[in-house]
Amino acid sequence: MGRIRILSDQVANQIAAGEVVDRPASVVKELLENSLDAGATRIRVEVEAGGRRLIRITDDGHGMGRDDVLLAFERHATSKLRTADDLLSIATLGFRGEALPSIASVARVTLETATGDEAAGTRLEIAGGKILHVDDAALPRGATIAVADLFFNTPARRKFLRAESTELAHVTALVTHYALAHPEKHFELLSATHTILSAPPVARTAERIYQIFGKDTLAQLLPVAAELPLAHAGLPEPPPWKKDPDEPVRDPGALRLTGFYSKPELQKLNRNSIYIFVNKRLIRDRLLMHAITEAYRNVIPPTSFPVVLLFLEMPPEEVDVNVHPAKTEVRFRQQSLIHDFVRDSLRTALIKARPAAGFLAALDNAAAASPSLMPPSTSPLPGSPESATFTALPDDSDPDAFQTASREAERFQLTPRMPSPVPGKLPFAANGVNPGGWGDRQAWGEAAAALFQPASLPPAGDCSPAAGDAAGTNPGVETALVEAEQAAANLNHLGSLRPLGQLRDSFILATGEDGLWIIDQHVAHERVLFEKILRDRQTEKVQRQRLLMPMLVELKPWQMVVFTQIADELERNGFEVEPFGPQTLAVKAAPVGLEGGALERMLAEVIEQSSEDSDEPRQNEDLAALRGRIAASIACHSAIKVNTPLDHVRMEWLLLELAKTSHPTSCPHGRPIALLYSWKEIQRAFHRI
Ligand SMILES: Nc1ncnc2c1ncn2[C@@H]1O[C@H](COP(=O)(O)OP(=O)(O)OP(=O)(O)O)[C@@H](O)[C@H]1O
Ligand SMILES: [Mg+2]
Repeated sequence: MGRIRILSDQVANQIAAGEVVDRPASVVKELLENSLDAGATRIRVEVEAGGRRLIRITDDGHGMGRDDVLLAFERHATSKLRTADDLLSIATLGFRGEALPSIASVARVTLETATGDEAAGTRLEIAGGKILHVDDAALPRGATIAVADLFFNTPARRKFLRAESTELAHVTALVTHYALAHPEKHFELLSATHTILSAPPVARTAERIYQIFGKDTLAQLLPVAAELPLAHAGLPEPPPWKKDPDEPVRDPGALRLTGFYSKPELQKLNRNSIYIFVNKRLIRDRLLMHAITEAYRNVIPPTSFPVVLLFLEMPPEEVDVNVHPAKTEVRFRQQSLIHDFVRDSLRTALIKARPAAGFLAALDNAAAASPSLMPPSTSPLPGSPESATFTALPDDSDPDAFQTASREAERFQLTPRMPSPVPGKLPFAANGVNPGGWGDRQAWGEAAAALFQPASLPPAGDCSPAAGDAAGTNPGVETALVEAEQAAANLNHLGSLRPLGQLRDSFILATGEDGLWIIDQHVAHERVLFEKILRDRQTEKVQRQRLLMPMLVELKPWQMVVFTQIADELERNGFEVEPFGPQTLAVKAAPVGLEGGALERMLAEVIEQSSEDSDEPRQNEDLAALRGRIAASIACHSAIKVNTPLDHVRMEWLLLELAKTSHPTSCPHGRPIALLYSWKEIQRAFHRI
């Protein structure tokens, strides 16, 4: 007898479950996506014991008829795909026909559903892949799927589950993300004791952000919208001689980007506050992550991350979603086009908005970049390790690494810890949630605030969205939105400010329409020089000055290696350097303005920075990064220092020059340049309003 056997469906499903279902959050993801695919407008997610004991999702989508109910748990049974060609343009979130059989093979599942067209609905019970009961039941249109005792028959997998509160945090992150992508739908997340999230439908994403993260976060975000008509479709066209002449010419469609990005003053410690949706599918993607980092290059420090909510829409043929079993990764057919579109749209938006940093907000944010909007080490995407692409934390499938990650995470846990859910049965039908309202305010305050509020926000209650009524009728939402828009004072009028004088010969005080400005003279000049150096380098117009005496610089052998790699670029930036013995360089000329000790420090700095491994995926960007580093370093070492008296003319000149820059918000290393003590804040502080 041969050795090879065909696996039973049961085993095959459990293997598939290994890829698709690895924690309660991944079950929630699959079920939520099914509800969205079914056209639901209202989705309620309930979890007990962090989802380990029970996950129940109720939706008002189109539901399933009896025949479909039985088929839905068969492997490769789907209503979303018919032919292999359909795979090239998938418009639904699911398409593999794997989720339900996989989940049912490792849990006890009850499905209750009705289409509204048939006389009766259907109730099906299935445990460990075996159907136990199928009955008629009187049910409203839609579907309720309860998944109990996850991994009850696979103890090895159960062991890998984390504490209930951790699992709940992952579920919460996930539901939150889908709620952000679908502001027009009603989302609720309930634990056994709390309403964790209650987001009634709203018209705009901005209102959803307000519902979920509160007013202060919204005030720090700016909207972005851009569109790029595609020149050609990503899929290869048949050769002209194979083309049917009668076939209409296909419109390749367009790339569309909408979303929100943070002002440079709002900085996060990790990438967990960057949310990327492609055709409303939450994904992790290295390419887009890179595009976002590029957009913020030399605007925020390289070690900080912005908050970005990015919704990319494109024709389904442009993106291959069938590259990962959990459907969390995609492959774009026109990769560089999309990368550059995202980078340029964000960068242009940043340059146009030139958001001014508020003095008080900067006080909160500047001390240390605040943690992400989500709890530390929580990835919205269950499944594959986050470390490689998503966060700087180690792979959390490795228990040791996970402990380190938890310890790391602990350090950033500035918000109160979320209380552990109290065990108990969920009073599903009769719980006290006010439909259409903000839900249980107390619960929000305790659980959601801990999860969502950045550290810089005042305690829940002051600014918690719970302070309002139902979204639709809450005047607070509109006021907050208007306030956020008004609050976006910008730096366009920097040139018309009236300098009053200096504070300790280091900060320029200036007045304008918006209020009192405090400008850091060193970083302001640094920004001016930085952009000039990059411009001059671009047009090959760098001005160099000969040194009276060549300056000798001693280097260590490894520094010498780095130097030879960057020598050409240094020369193009105005340096004339020759080897003077095996470990010594003779600098004969340098960029104008850079002298003596500053010149030596600048060279050492650039060599040091260039020796650090860069993980840039593209070579030309390596060069762009190097140019940026050199320009930033020259600018920093030749800019006006603090403790330098400036006369009126020089202060005016500096403000005018700063006004002309693209990013007067922050220096090339990410520090704020100009802070505004707004007229409103001043009036408020003096109790005049
Ligand atoms: N909440 C729901 N409402 C209506 N129909 C549903 C619901 N959930 C699942 N279905 C039906 O059951 C089928 C199987 O669901 P399942 O999640 O296993 O596969 P899929 O969504 O087609 O693909 P994937 O495995 O990629 O999720 C779906 O194609 C859909 O027709
Ligand atoms: Mg599905």
